[in-house]
Amino acid sequence: MLVLGIDTSCDDTSAALIRAENGNAETLSNVVSSQTEIHTKYGGIVPELASRRHIEMIWPVVTEALGEHSLEDLDAVAVCYGPGLIGSLLVGCAFAKAVCYPKGIPFIGVNHLEGHLLSAFIDGQEPEFPFISLIVSGGHTCLYKVDGYMRYEELGRTRDDAAGEAYDKVSKLLGLGYPGGPIIDRLARDGDPKAVDLPRAYLPNSLDFSFSGLKTAVRLAHEKNGLSNEDMAASFQASVVDVLVRKTEWAIKEHHIRRVSLSGGVAANSALRERMSAMADERDVTLYLPPVNLCTDNAAMIALAGYHRIAAGERSGLDLNPRAYLPL
Ligand code: KG4
Ligand code: ZN
Repeated sequence: MLVLGIDTSCDDTSAALIRAENGNAETLSNVVSSQTEIHTKYGGIVPELASRRHIEMIWPVVTEALGEHSLEDLDAVAVCYGPGLIGSLLVGCAFAKAVCYPKGIPFIGVNHLEGHLLSAFIDGQEPEFPFISLIVSGGHTCLYKVDGYMRYEELGRTRDDAAGEAYDKVSKLLGLGYPGGPIIDRLARDGDPKAVDLPRAYLPNSLDFSFSGLKTAVRLAHEKNGLSNEDMAASFQASVVDVLVRKTEWAIKEHHIRRVSLSGGVAANSALRERMSAMADERDVTLYLPPVNLCTDNAAMIALAGYHRIAAGERSGLDLNPRAYLPL
């Protein structure tokens, strides 16, 4: 089965082609056209500019992803229909419908979070169920228990900022640039994680998260202490990573599950990857970790999630509407 995946949920236009059979999938292409350059000068994503750029890029990106294949070769199209920026999602959804309707190609709407959740299994091992999944991105920070494909139970979520959002906001307040995650990750390598003692919101008896207090603490420490950017970045990152790893450990213990996956843009973070791997080793837990380039938004993860739904007999109708808010 040849599946084209499309993701235009945020600020990256992405299309990917996978060949899948009996649960196994091979990625033939995974094209991501970044809009970072456009949004950098505003210090964050400008939704209207994002959707306009998607309109310009969707056809060239899909053409590149198809390579020597044509639309006639496709067995299915999987498109991300939420959650995300509504104007951006509209472009991918309208494009997928326009391609599929006249050619009679089956198409399926995919939840962006389901894509992230499965990103550790692109061209990799098949998951063993159940497993605990931590998704940490710019828009989401949540823990799930995954009992099978399409069988997800939310265990906890952020009550305010997502972890990636905290990275981006802290980077902005320190005047470091956008997106903040990779910049702070890099600076933190040369900083002292104990330079300033920042709070860790463990929220006892809950698997929820909270990062807004940390952001405020960083601002106050920044105004008061005059620390170097390296020390500030390392101290902030230590707090985020401590909480993410500790709460994942709680979920593992509480549910007696010995497998865990880490995905989403923040899963590209070097400190988080190291700490999560060390925790998994210590507890003799299997860790499913996508390669760094598959942590941030991409369409291969949408194609893979779509394939599993198509294989299970699911289809979306032409009445599929994009949804800015879409729980998994
Ligand atoms: O998954 P993603 O590409 O988009 C969403 O679905 O939100 O995640 C983007 C987020 C941004 O907030 C970015 O700052 C963060 O992931 N990010 C990182 C790193 N690379 C990207 N955060 C920490 N360390 C990184 N190396
Ligand atoms: Zn994402």
